[in-house]
Amino acid sequence: MPLVTSTEMFKKAYSGGYAVGAFNVNNMEIVQGITEAAQELKAPLILQVSKGARAYANHTYLVKLVEAAVIECPDIPIVLHLDHGPDFETCKACIDGGFTSVMIDASGKPLAENIEITKKVVEYAHDHGVVVEAELGTLAGIEDAVSVKAEDSSYTRPEDVEEFVTKSGCDSLAIAIGTSHGAFKFKPGTKPQLRFDILKEVEQRLPGFPIVLHGSSSVPKEFADKINQFGGNMPNAIGVPEDQLREAARMAVCKINIDTDLRMAMTACIREHFVTNPADFDPRQYLKPARAAIKSMVAHKIVDVLGCDHKA
Ligand code: G3H
Ligand code: 13P
Ligand code: ZN
Repeated sequence: MPLVTSTEMFKKAYSGGYAVGAFNVNNMEIVQGITEAAQELKAPLILQVSKGARAYANHTYLVKLVEAAVIECPDIPIVLHLDHGPDFETCKACIDGGFTSVMIDASGKPLAENIEITKKVVEYAHDHGVVVEAELGTLAGIEDAVSVKAEDSSYTRPEDVEEFVTKSGCDSLAIAIGTSHGAFKFKPGTKPQLRFDILKEVEQRLPGFPIVLHGSSSVPKEFADKINQFGGNMPNAIGVPEDQLREAARMAVCKINIDTDLRMAMTACIREHFVTNPADFDPRQYLKPARAAIKSMVAHKIVDVLGCDHKA
């Protein structure tokens, strides 16, 4: 089937008490590892591309890689989504260039401005059959384009969500309930805890409306340990506990964003390979196991965290 929008996916996820995985893609091995797992498990899938990914790999290469995955995965619906679109122009380029979903991230702007920018993207996107994710509240952490300090992050204010969704016309809403981007989400010695009270209030104010959770990597200890064991330097890397993500997926959260765990799975595998096979210099020798590591990590997420297998 051709690329789809997330509209039907989110309806089913909402009523089925699961979430669709949104995985960031930057190269062929990442696309292949993710899509092979989803195809085998018959799981709907969102492949997302950031501004940094477009700068790294080139828009056309990424679109064509995802189109190849669509051909290779005939049994599952796949969405091609722009992650953290920084402005109207970037969203327009992706809408015009084959994406079926875009995020406009104006969450750093005041509410009225966020509404205004989002509305402009929604009007253009909907005219072209594309859906729009927006964000209210600010996550801490680092993306290629934006770095938000923990003290500048802010939880979503539930009292703003109805006005935001009604006035902007967005199709899904990312909220801030304690997740953050990257591998260092919580201070060592503190108990990671998402604000389910905020999620619940948002759910009550927007019944049936799909909510998105960014910054949802769990930073598996096995990957951090392996990276550190084989010459890396990621002390005190801490992610979101998987049981809390599963709980969020049972509630209104229909899309869960994962990038850091892909990076860590790949990096841990390649670091180990270089140390244990110092004579290897053919990239296929280390990219093949790295792709397999991504596939098995994604399969675990789909089954045990998202509850999303056999839903396509
Ligand atoms: O939300 C952030 C994603 O992990 C994308 O990261 O901007 O470094 O590609 P990036
Ligand atoms: P992580 O850094 O937790 O993987 O979050 C990714 C993300 O939110 C992409 O938009
Ligand atoms: Zn994000």
